[in-house]
Amino acid sequence: MPETELYSERYRPQFHFTAGENWLNDPNGCVFDNGEYHLFFQHNPAGCEWGNMTWGHAVSTDLLHWQQLSNALTPYDGGTIYSGSAVVDSRNTSGFAHQASAPLVAAFTHAREPFGQAIAFSNDHGRHWEMYAEGRHVVPNQGLDSGERDPRIFWHAPTKRWVMALWVALGQVRFFVSDDLKQWVHTSDFMGEDFYECPDLFCLPLDGDGERPKWVLHDATSRYWVGDFDGVRFLPEAGPMTSDFGANFYAAQTWTNTGSRVVQIGWMRGGEYPGMPFNQQMSFPCELALRSTPAGIRLQRMPVAEIENLRAGADHTSNSALRAGEELVVSRSGDLFDIVAEIEAPRDAAFGIRLYDLEIACTGAGAVRCLGREASFVPSSDSVVRVRILLDRTSIELFVNDGEISMSFCFLPMDRETTVRCYVEQGNVWVRNWVVHHLSSVWGDPHTKKIELTGSSKT
Ligand code: FRU
Repeated sequence: MPETELYSERYRPQFHFTAGENWLNDPNGCVFDNGEYHLFFQHNPAGCEWGNMTWGHAVSTDLLHWQQLSNALTPYDGGTIYSGSAVVDSRNTSGFAHQASAPLVAAFTHAREPFGQAIAFSNDHGRHWEMYAEGRHVVPNQGLDSGERDPRIFWHAPTKRWVMALWVALGQVRFFVSDDLKQWVHTSDFMGEDFYECPDLFCLPLDGDGERPKWVLHDATSRYWVGDFDGVRFLPEAGPMTSDFGANFYAAQTWTNTGSRVVQIGWMRGGEYPGMPFNQQMSFPCELALRSTPAGIRLQRMPVAEIENLRAGADHTSNSALRAGEELVVSRSGDLFDIVAEIEAPRDAAFGIRLYDLEIACTGAGAVRCLGREASFVPSSDSVVRVRILLDRTSIELFVNDGEISMSFCFLPMDRETTVRCYVEQGNVWVRNWVVHHLSSVWGDPHTKKIELTGSSKT
């Protein structure tokens, strides 16, 4: 068989991040710096299975086109590099700056039992990394669990200090503060039922109102709590709720240093990529919002607007009535779509969308089902269900009513190309508007294929 060119393989996602080769899991060290989004990731440089945990590294200026660089952090002293986060130390509180530009500082778990937390820094926008104090632990094991891990660091502007949220045991997150990212003081613990791995903590204006900031504490399993954080302690008001109802969304992290915009990416855990030189993919980056809904405060996830730059032609339908048993073919065939639909569905209506052998079933009463998972939403007063779908070669991400529900899945397509169909099972629906944008691949530009997988930049 002729060799397929890297990035055009049959099961290679075309607008989701994958490592050029080998295994990846959690997003790590998401930070925006000097016009670039950095995406570090749990990586096995030596194989397609989990192991040899190392921080792989990619950069992008638009969250679409990623350039993979050399691995940033590699195992040392018998310990591998587990998940963590990164910040821009723009005030040089750490004293790590050798030059005018601000250093990047990464906090990670040094995984040799019992695990401890260490930091590394870069003075050239992430191209080279140096371990602080030869990688000695800045937060030693707390004696709660030999696997304490995944330090989430960020700047807390009101108290002008750094904060670290660390997963220390099932159901327990420990907070620390620091003036210089090197010395950390334990301030409080949050106990949240079954809270598991990869804490993320970020602030969002409730209903877009800057006068009503709320904090969201999120775990690896897509559960989150909403409350207040005063720089010392997290006080939950609601939770746990679920941020993604699909089967393949895990260990999500938000970028630091993005101003008021909160952008999240997750690992689409559990996808299958038979015969591929890589294994696993990231989710598409989503912008987060916090809204009051009749069911309470909810996190909403919607794909970042940058995706519009990949749109290359569309098929469009509007104002069509569809009755039970009828079907509408809405597009030419393809395998990369961004679908935006507005469907008026009374409470007794049941309709669906078919792509390949995938079905997304909705009811006007507020239920949505896909690939064996179900979620519910509160029907809007005008009975309109707004559906957004991102379809890549091996993943589908579904967003209902502006991200009130999101569901992320991986799948193996039976055929490469599909059409988009809308069908009605019960009642009458009115297709107000239905646009199927065909997307172009981010790997079209050979420039973005550059991979420098050889060697580590650890100094
Ligand atoms: C989550 C996780 C983290 C850990 C990393 C190791 O998927 O288990 O808790 O740091 O993966 O690869």
